[in-house]
Amino acid sequence: MKKKIGGIAAIMLLGLVLLSIRYYEVDLPIWHFLGGGKGPDPATLHLSGEFVESNLGTAEDAEGSLTVRMIAQQYVFVPQCIAIPAGVPVRFRITSADGVHMLSFLGTDYGLKAVPGAVTEASFTFLKPGEFKIPCNEFCGPGHYAMRGQLEVAPRDQFSSLHPEERRTCESR
Ligand code: CUA
Repeated sequence: MKKKIGGIAAIMLLGLVLLSIRYYEVDLPIWHFLGGGKGPDPATLHLSGEFVESNLGTAEDAEGSLTVRMIAQQYVFVPQCIAIPAGVPVRFRITSADGVHMLSFLGTDYGLKAVPGAVTEASFTFLKPGEFKIPCNEFCGPGHYAMRGQLEVAPRDQFSSLHPEERRTCESR
């Protein structure tokens, strides 16, 4: 009897896992495609709203918290290179101008999915300074394998001494 209950619980758990995967992989993109969530329109990202070019990159708000805004599109991340300080939480907000892309910060567990018509947000803290490649981890077309950005994590004091324009984006090497 106990075994049977355990078996049923395992099957239910598996069902739940499958359902939650389905939710993110199927339901959510469809819902967003149909205009749910009032996300940014992929066709006019560069024209108005939060993701116009001048608003991309790393920005500091009045309370001093940092937000990185990025667009993923076939086959680049815009901006190509972003700079943040080490040891502080940074909010990432990302959307896509075409299909689904997946930013992954190489050498970390951090990742963010970019979905057209929606903004994905997550907060990450990079404890140590360094350079991280940002390959796309979701097959998005023939140029997928060349799609990669760069993240530069600077020591905190070094970051705050940067010129505002150098804080927003950086030169990828
Ligand atoms: Cu973008 Cu793969």
